[in-house]
Amino acid sequence: MTQYGIFTIANESHQPDKLKSSSSSRNPPTSLTRPIVRSEGQTTMKVLVTGGAGYVGSVVADGLLTAGHQVIVLDNLQQGHRAAVSPTAEFIPADICDPDALSNLFRQSGIDAVMHMAAETVIEFSITDPKRYFVTNVVGGINLLNVMLKHSVHRLIFSSTAAVYGEPHTVPIEETHPMSPINAYGASKLMFEQILEWYGRAYGLKHVSFRYFNAAGATENLGEAHRPETHLIPNVLNAALSKKSVSIFGSDYPTKDGSCIRDYVHVVDIARAHILALEKLDLFNGRAYNLGNQQGYSVIDVIETAKKVTGIDIPAKVSPRRPGDPAVLVASSSLARSELGWKPRFPQLETIIDSAWRWMPEHPGGYGD
Ligand code: UFG
Repeated sequence: MTQYGIFTIANESHQPDKLKSSSSSRNPPTSLTRPIVRSEGQTTMKVLVTGGAGYVGSVVADGLLTAGHQVIVLDNLQQGHRAAVSPTAEFIPADICDPDALSNLFRQSGIDAVMHMAAETVIEFSITDPKRYFVTNVVGGINLLNVMLKHSVHRLIFSSTAAVYGEPHTVPIEETHPMSPINAYGASKLMFEQILEWYGRAYGLKHVSFRYFNAAGATENLGEAHRPETHLIPNVLNAALSKKSVSIFGSDYPTKDGSCIRDYVHVVDIARAHILALEKLDLFNGRAYNLGNQQGYSVIDVIETAKKVTGIDIPAKVSPRRPGDPAVLVASSSLARSELGWKPRFPQLETIIDSAWRWMPEHPGGYGD
């Protein structure tokens, strides 16, 4: 079986080119069990992953464990799944909006660094109920930072989003592009990026933010299962299984076929970027990086590719636009590539969808919770 759980840890930017080039093949014969390469003097850390039972967080936690770090997962299980947390990670069922729970955890745990992924993330709901987004993503985030400082933890990797940019003026979007979010989700993430800058200047907090474009795909054991599911690729694949139509939200955007264009990036590639940044945080302190494949696909492209992958004629119907959706989001990820040495291993949309499709039959209905 093809495996998508690949984490090479240190020195990947220093690999000879011929080794690097094999890494983006469609079906790389590698696995989570391959030996860990560590740079000289590198130490393991105890890392808190907030939101580590969620989609991206669980894959990041898995990658950290594979890299030899200790992991504590903190998650309120509102979106996360207990079954997505590895038995080798410690699990704390708590909310970042509960400062006492955070204080207890930091008092007892000897945490060295934090990967902060706990958040409200669905763009559409952020239009109708923005307060949830500002409370969790901003107030909850500040709770976390303040507890970290109190316990002298100064290392943080933050899950930000392409939604900080709003409607782009130029594509692919560089990190220097103006940031004018058009939904409260993007606004809340941008606020927190700004808070990190001020905490960095005043309190010596070291931080890197990653602006994810569209996280997608699965590892052998970990995949995408939201409650409710709003994301395109799982919805398309669920339509393939159920034979019920998937909705195309909007067919009148100024794009090649009228549907929205996004840049889909494999969740394993996102996780690898986090581990690279954590291990080289002193070098990249203060940076914000886009994570995407520099390639845009429309909703219709995704459905057509999923038809090829599944061999099923997936039914689709055009529905009204979804509030808060920008027409086009495509990353330039040259900064992450040149500075972090990040190179996506699974950039092809077909590979991304294939990995999600392989995960689904073994996880009917997600994690069963
Ligand atoms: N879409 C459909 N039908 C569906 C689901 C989605 O047409 O059933 C469309 C959406 O309207 C959008 C595109 O498919 O145009 C992608 O939608 P997703 O819900 O999969 O993802 P989003 O682009 O809304 O959001 C994702 C993350 C955000 C992140 C954003 C950045 O969930 O956190 O990508 O690009 F900010």
